[in-house]
Amino acid sequence: MDPARPEDETGRSPGGRPHRRSHTTSADVARYAGLFAQRTTVMRSSAMRDLMEITSRPEVISLAGGLPDTSTFPPDSFAAQMTRIAQESSAKALQYGPTEGFAETHEVIEEVMRAEDMRPDPGDIVVTTGGQQALDLICKTLLDPGDVVVAEGPTYPGAVPVFCSYEADTRQVEMDDDGMRVDLLEELLAELDREGRRPKFIYSVPTFQNPGGVTLALERRRRLVEIAREREILIVEDNPYGLLRYAGETLPTLYSLDGGDYVLYVGTLSKILSPGIRIGWVCAPPPVRAKLVLGKAATDLCTSTLSQYFVREYFAEGDWLAYVDELRDVYRSRRGAMLRALASYFPRQATWSQPDGGLFVWATLPDYIDTTDLLAKALRENVAFVPGAAAYADGRGSGSMRLNFSAQTEEEIVEGIRRIGAVVGEQVGLYETMTGSFEVVQPEEQDDPSTSSAARSGGDGANPGPASGDVLPFHRKPLRD
Ligand SMILES: Cc1ncc(COP(=O)(O)O)c(C=O)c1O
Repeated sequence: MDPARPEDETGRSPGGRPHRRSHTTSADVARYAGLFAQRTTVMRSSAMRDLMEITSRPEVISLAGGLPDTSTFPPDSFAAQMTRIAQESSAKALQYGPTEGFAETHEVIEEVMRAEDMRPDPGDIVVTTGGQQALDLICKTLLDPGDVVVAEGPTYPGAVPVFCSYEADTRQVEMDDDGMRVDLLEELLAELDREGRRPKFIYSVPTFQNPGGVTLALERRRRLVEIAREREILIVEDNPYGLLRYAGETLPTLYSLDGGDYVLYVGTLSKILSPGIRIGWVCAPPPVRAKLVLGKAATDLCTSTLSQYFVREYFAEGDWLAYVDELRDVYRSRRGAMLRALASYFPRQATWSQPDGGLFVWATLPDYIDTTDLLAKALRENVAFVPGAAAYADGRGSGSMRLNFSAQTEEEIVEGIRRIGAVVGEQVGLYETMTGSFEVVQPEEQDDPSTSSAARSGGDGANPGPASGDVLPFHRKPLRD
């Protein structure tokens, strides 16, 4: 008890002023338990949110979050934009706004979507409080408890708590280097047909997937859109990273292939401008859009007016694509640093994706390593990653981890990977000593320079690591620039 604030047996300080408890007792838990809605029993916390407190400590190198590097945004421009808002639009910028967002924000969104060759109907757009709210509103609008949602396996770790809180039956379809295995999707849909069930939607991050780092191939995109049309299933295309391409050819979005009938498109300014402003959006056909607006009005009335004014000012300057170019240059180098560090410091049993864009690498370790346990060891070395289980609704993914390369400097990335590599190496060594399994390494393989760390950094397509039980390891491809 704080001696400065002595309390009586009612938990109130003398004078009756209530104050916060220092901890929750079992009596507290029991008192509230009977009040909770049934759905709270299946709610899940977000791994990234859970880690944020630890990873915000300055001594921790966090490869866990999906944080863009906001230090690259020039403070002088920010100050000038905010000053203009204060001088010219103070009262309006501080007022409530329309639930669907201002027409000027819609124009900005159209411009951003045009940069990826999309032509949305302005009447289809709803501004949301980040892409995250868009996902929540879509689930609120479409899902009854037990409804099937199909997602990639692994899927965006922040989507898992959303699907869980709406009590979805989430089915995940494996991916390979070319994104979701659409052949396996068709098998799953046939199986669901036999059970008399039809998914409400297929959730996909087709471009520079979070967490997989892979991109859905063109033929698969076409087939996915065809499947949605044939079966009248909606697709939710979540595309925060499409403009962050560092290599290879641009591919059409699912939304542009479909024309917006069956694809609900989710976008955000978080990764190309700032996550702090919380500006995202959904494009949906009018009947769906109308329900999304009703859902949003009940949730938060409108997205921050002040943020929308900032966005309007910023885009009016006309330099936003130059800033995205800058981000691309920074992240391209950091991606290279991470991939080279992985080749140097991760044991030969590990495999990882070679992203052409986005912010993440997905690494898969031998299946006797549980990355949730490994994280505790890594945190002792002041380094963090997202354990793979966070990217599955059903407990799979424990052999994998998500590594972010946008939030730290190249030096920190290399040091972070060195530290994780050391804890992984310890586990591999321990396992091999206990099981004698190191004997399976053939002598000629040991002598073969192509299997050395240095040679593997070239990414020659070899994939020496074993499959991690439930999760397909992504094969290494040559790094393209
Ligand atoms: C695939 C995906 N969807 C949605 C979001 C949410 O982004 P925000 O709410 O910041 O727009 C993220 C953030 O990392 C993401 O990676």
